[in-house]
Amino acid sequence: MKILVTGGAGYIGSHACKALARSGFTPITFDNFSTGWREAVRFGPYVEGDLTDKGTVENAFKKHQPDAVLHFAALSRVDEAMANPGLYWRNNVLGSLNLVETAVEHGCLDFVFSSTCATYGDQDGVVLDEDTVQAPLNAYGASKQAVERILHDFSTTHGLRHVIFRYFNVAGADPDAEVGEFHRPETHLIPIVLDAVAGARDQVTIYGTDYPTEDGTCVRDYVHVSDLVDAHILGLRWLLDGKENRVFNLGTGSGFSVREVIDAARRVTNREVPTEIGDRRPGDAIKLVSGSSRAEEELNWQPTKSTMPQMIEDAWRWHQVADYKE
Ligand code: UFG
Repeated sequence: MKILVTGGAGYIGSHACKALARSGFTPITFDNFSTGWREAVRFGPYVEGDLTDKGTVENAFKKHQPDAVLHFAALSRVDEAMANPGLYWRNNVLGSLNLVETAVEHGCLDFVFSSTCATYGDQDGVVLDEDTVQAPLNAYGASKQAVERILHDFSTTHGLRHVIFRYFNVAGADPDAEVGEFHRPETHLIPIVLDAVAGARDQVTIYGTDYPTEDGTCVRDYVHVSDLVDAHILGLRWLLDGKENRVFNLGTGSGFSVREVIDAARRVTNREVPTEIGDRRPGDAIKLVSGSSRAEEELNWQPTKSTMPQMIEDAWRWHQVADYKE
């Protein structure tokens, strides 16, 4: 079966392509290479194109006739979304609308979508399950919530079938280090910490130490990218088995503060992590922790690599051999 993977050259999409290929599917990457890497397309063919250009999307469907879609492609930086919300509404929402419409027009009705815990916003430390009311703090979260709504409407009217995954903080890398996390600019905590460990940056700035959490820094729920993409294979099979539309949180239910992540990196790498204390970063939620085991119960998802030491170890291995070009 052929699966169109938008954002297949990106961090999560490239890991998904590997998991699909291993599971007997043919991943067809659709990517504009704005934040992804040609070197990361290692597991199937690709189409270079932008989702905001519907003609290119249509040509990809005509040429490859995919059986299902895994939709990862999106801009996903909160700082960028705060500075330029229009970019997020255009890219994430218009791009997704073009994709969903084209999929429906081509009778490709099984659709797996990458959404985010950022759709929940800040909920006063409440542990978040799939029924928590969504109240995004920024245009990134709002754009993802809007696409969830598009899927709902196309489902009602056109029979589009979908699984929505709301990711918590994705971390780690392919344990074989064939693909990994590499953003330019890098904004994510763990790769930044590893850059500091490796001497590629002077220090890590801790964005705020006056949050109402145990050690004053923000708390996140980290999930290993390999576990995350395993859930996507299960989500795809869920749809192919004819089961109903469903939303699943993908997190582990354990929260780690920024300081705890830095301490774990010190232990795993056995090196110093130089830090400085900075201001809060606009748009950051205090605490985002997944409270649901729905994915484990219903999809039979079993995260096996999502411990902090394992995520840092795999990210560190990749960091040392990463062969993507700047
Ligand atoms: N942080 C620092 N210093 C840094 C980088 C991050 O202190 O140099 C802190 C952040 O303030 C936050 C935590 O580390 O408290 C995690 O930050 P990340 O940028 O790694 O992750 P986010 O929780 O901000 O981002 C995640 C996803 C994004 C998505 C966002 C939505 O990685 O793609 O959730 O909330 F946009």
